[in-house]
Amino acid sequence: MLTPLLRSSVVKPHHQSLIGTSDAMQPVLADIESSARSGAKVLITGETGVGKEVVARTVHQRSARQAAPFVTINCAGVPDSLLESELFGHTRGSFTGAVRDNPGLLRQADGGTVFLDEVGEMSLRMQALLLRFLETGEIQTIGAVTASSKIDVRVITATNRNLLEAATAREFREDLYYRLNVFEIRVPPLRGRPSDIPMLLEYYLRWFGEQHRQGPLAVSEAAMDRLTSYAWPGNVRELRNVVERLVLRVQGPTIEPDALPIEIASYVPAAQEGPIHAREAVSHKARVDGLIERLGQKESFWTSAYPAFMARDITRDDMRLIVRSGLEQTHGSYRLLVGLFNMPADDYKRFLSFLKQHDCNLPFQRFRSGAKISQPVRPGMAKIA
Ligand SMILES: Nc1ncnc2c1ncn2[C@@H]1O[C@H](COP(=O)(O)OP(=O)(O)O)[C@@H](O)[C@H]1O
Ligand SMILES: [Mg+2]
Repeated sequence: MLTPLLRSSVVKPHHQSLIGTSDAMQPVLADIESSARSGAKVLITGETGVGKEVVARTVHQRSARQAAPFVTINCAGVPDSLLESELFGHTRGSFTGAVRDNPGLLRQADGGTVFLDEVGEMSLRMQALLLRFLETGEIQTIGAVTASSKIDVRVITATNRNLLEAATAREFREDLYYRLNVFEIRVPPLRGRPSDIPMLLEYYLRWFGEQHRQGPLAVSEAAMDRLTSYAWPGNVRELRNVVERLVLRVQGPTIEPDALPIEIASYVPAAQEGPIHAREAVSHKARVDGLIERLGQKESFWTSAYPAFMARDITRDDMRLIVRSGLEQTHGSYRLLVGLFNMPADDYKRFLSFLKQHDCNLPFQRFRSGAKISQPVRPGMAKIA
C-alpha cells in the first residue's frame, strides 16, 4: 500500500478557518488575498506548526480554483520512489507492487491546487523531476511509454527551512527555489502574536468540547495570563494539542493555572524579566529541571529534591511542580509516587508528612483520569521548558 505512508490526501470540503486578527497576521491575510487573486505559485514559510497548511488551503479556497480539488502531500521522510509515483503516477506492473494504474496526485488535482508541504526535504533527484514538471506542465508517469498529457495545477509549497541557505549548501536547487517562490507568504510564530491566543483557545475549546462531548470550559484570568505569555515553541499545533488534553482532563467549569501543563504553568518569559533576571530564571529553571531528571535517573527524592528544598535552592512552588510532574504520571497516586521518586515503600508516611508540613501536597483528584496504570513511567520526561 502506497498512500497511507504519505499522509497525502485529496481533500474534501474542509471548514477549518484561519484564525488570527493580530497586527502580525495582517500582512499574511493581505498576502492570502492577493495571491488568491493572482494564481501565481506561492511559497509559504514559517516555523513548524504556525499554520502553513491552513494558509495554503485558504489561498485555494479564495482562488478561482476553489471548486476544483486541493491536494496535499507531505514530502518529508518519504522515499524518492514512493514520492515520485504518488506525484506523477505509475502504470500497472511498472515496478513490483504496482498492481494497478495510479494516476498520481498531480493529475487528480487537475484544475485545482497541489500543496507540497516540507518541500525543503525533497531529494535532489525529486527536485529535478518537480522542476521539469513546472517547466513543461507535463507529467511523466512511471512506466508509461509516452510523455503524457499536460495538466493545469497550481503549485503551493511550504517549508520551515531557509531554502536560500539550503541552496547555498547545495541541498536545494536554486533554480527550483526561484520558480517556487513567485509569491512568498511568511507566517509569524505564535509568540509574535499573543493577541491571537485567546481566540485560538476559544475556537479549539469549543471544537474539542464538541468532539469529546464535554461541557463548555472557561479560562480563568490567571490561566489566560500564563497561556498568553508562554512562548509556544510548537506554535498553533502545540496549542491545539494542549487544549485537547485540557478538554479531556479538566472537569470544569473553569481552567485554572494549576491545570495547565507544567511547561506552561512554570514558564518564565525571558523578555519581561530583563537580562539578569532572565539568566537567573533560566538557571533556576534548569535546577528544577535537573532535579526532575535526577529523579528520572533513579536518584532518591531524599538525596535530590529534598535537600535542594531544605537549602532553599528551590522554592515551594518548585517543589509543587516536581510533585506535580510525578503525580501526572501516577495519575494522582501518592503511593506510586513514592516508588517513582525512588524511595522505599515504607517511606510513604514520612514523604506525605513532609509534603503536608511544607504545604506541597496537591489534591490527587485532579490527576485522576479514566486510564489506570500499574507501572509509572519514569519522570524526567516532563521537562520544564
Ligand atoms: N490560524 C490558525 N487558525 C486555526 N487553526 C490553526 C491556525 N494555524 C494553525 N492551525 C492548526 O494548527 C495545526 C498545525 O497547522 P499546520 O498548517 O499543519 O502547520 P504547519 O504546516 O505550519 O506545520 C493544524 O491543526 C491547524 O489546523
Ligand atoms: Mg505542515
